[in-house]
Amino acid sequence: MVNVVVRETRPYPDQRPGTSGLRKKVPVFQQENYLENFVQSIFDSLEGYQGKLLVVGGDGRYYNREAIQIILRMAAANGFGRVLVGRGGLLSTPAVSCVIRKHAAFGGIILSASHNPAGPEGDFGIKYNIGNGGPAPEKITEAIYARSQVIDRYRTLDCGDIDLDSPGERALGDMRVEVIDPVADYAELMEQLFDFDLIRTLIDAGAFEMRFDAMHAVTGPYAVEILENRLGVSPSSLMHARPKEDFGGGHPDPNLVYARELVDIMYSANAPDFGAASDGDGDRNMILGRRCFITPSDSLAVLAANAHLTPGYRRGLAGIARSMPTSQAADRVADRLGIELYETPTGWKFFGNLLDAGKVTLCGEESFGTGSDHVREKDGLWAVLFWLNLLAVRKESVQTIINAHWRSYGRNYYSRHDYEGVDADGAGQLMDSLRRHGGDLAGRRFGDHEVAFSDDFAYRDPVDGSLSEHQGLRIGFTDGSRIVFRLSGTGTSGATLRVYLERYEADPQKQGLDAQDALADLIRIADEVARIRHYTGREAPSVIT
Ligand code: G1P
Ligand code: ZN
Repeated sequence: MVNVVVRETRPYPDQRPGTSGLRKKVPVFQQENYLENFVQSIFDSLEGYQGKLLVVGGDGRYYNREAIQIILRMAAANGFGRVLVGRGGLLSTPAVSCVIRKHAAFGGIILSASHNPAGPEGDFGIKYNIGNGGPAPEKITEAIYARSQVIDRYRTLDCGDIDLDSPGERALGDMRVEVIDPVADYAELMEQLFDFDLIRTLIDAGAFEMRFDAMHAVTGPYAVEILENRLGVSPSSLMHARPKEDFGGGHPDPNLVYARELVDIMYSANAPDFGAASDGDGDRNMILGRRCFITPSDSLAVLAANAHLTPGYRRGLAGIARSMPTSQAADRVADRLGIELYETPTGWKFFGNLLDAGKVTLCGEESFGTGSDHVREKDGLWAVLFWLNLLAVRKESVQTIINAHWRSYGRNYYSRHDYEGVDADGAGQLMDSLRRHGGDLAGRRFGDHEVAFSDDFAYRDPVDGSLSEHQGLRIGFTDGSRIVFRLSGTGTSGATLRVYLERYEADPQKQGLDAQDALADLIRIADEVARIRHYTGREAPSVIT
């Protein structure tokens, strides 16, 4: 007989979820009852889950296993009927979404700090996803936070850990825990969306070479099963495919800076035809061709323009959604397809309602996130498979495909400059000052550029009518160029200022520039308007993507 115990606790002041759940350093999570408080606050903010199914899994980072054991005991003590948990505690973020939907679960808990480094001094995170498979909307995350501020007890079981490493079902108090293969349901869904036979033909032909970098994070087992076992990609094409608790000491963010090894290979003399990487929890992706990099904004546009070539999207797209700072490349595709384009605040949770209402099929963010209505999270491997399907159909190189796209639609030169870990006060002052002076910029000229509008982006959800304000300061110029400023909502120390720069170029003769060169004017204007160097004390961004 396993006893339910009620333990007393006291609130922690810092449990407000950010852009994507609660993220903190591991030692913060290891404080007495810190995780327990948050988990109980989640359960206390939900209704009607008694006897229902919960999905639990994480990206395998340090503290993942301990956290899962705590959550399982608490889920049982709070009355969930059944839990599906990935073997070894592993489930990528899109796989959690897929499993929630396929098994009609009440919801799920994902343990991840995405692309942030892991280890005893690294980051950890937890977020709750609702029954549609997507991140909980703000209404719920705010309720969780409110609850965490008054919490005084939590429920758990008085028992030890259960085995997470062998598949099968076991009892935990009155609850059943089923340890599932983390890849199976997800792989099955991918086979429905993409033409695996055709991709296999491309790979078997022998002339096509690729690299996929799992960055020692959760997509390793997914890549082995899907790319290697099902599609015939050679094992040597998979880099860092073994998940590690500290991600091998790396920073599992698939971008030009942190996926350096892959980028170097893709720009070497004998570069493979296709390169891709995914992040800590498997929801981000980076796409590369031979000596060419596809910005996430362009990737969204190319996928949208070519979606009809894949089995899963043959019937066309209902609409496209992109986060506000994402480039407007997809807008041009939506325009030509005659479908709606929605501009949402940063964060995948804003796509959920649009997807559920059938208003959009594809979504994307400039931060290496792309996805569709197949799940309710962005999905790294899905994007890789989508590209492989296109390459197999079009039989052209990545470079040829992107050049043809730009010729047809024009090129949106794009870059994001991050000033990471800057002083939070300085960053706050920069935003305040922009907010104060931002409103009166219209009509002002900076060199050749004239400001058409400037505002603090606010979004009214067209489905539930909810309003989200202060989502980033935008300066739009009369030629369609844009500069956007916002502070990161996922960081765990100091502040991160993100500056997003975009310029449209219709002339094919002028589409071959390096993005930083093409955006040089806007980069200067951004510093002038926001006094970035003054407020951050930095001479240059720490990451340019
Ligand atoms: C960042 C990205 C955002 C993404 C989020 C979670 O959030 O900018 O697009 O949805 O990570 O992966 P930020 O740190 O900018 O708040
Ligand atoms: Zn992620």
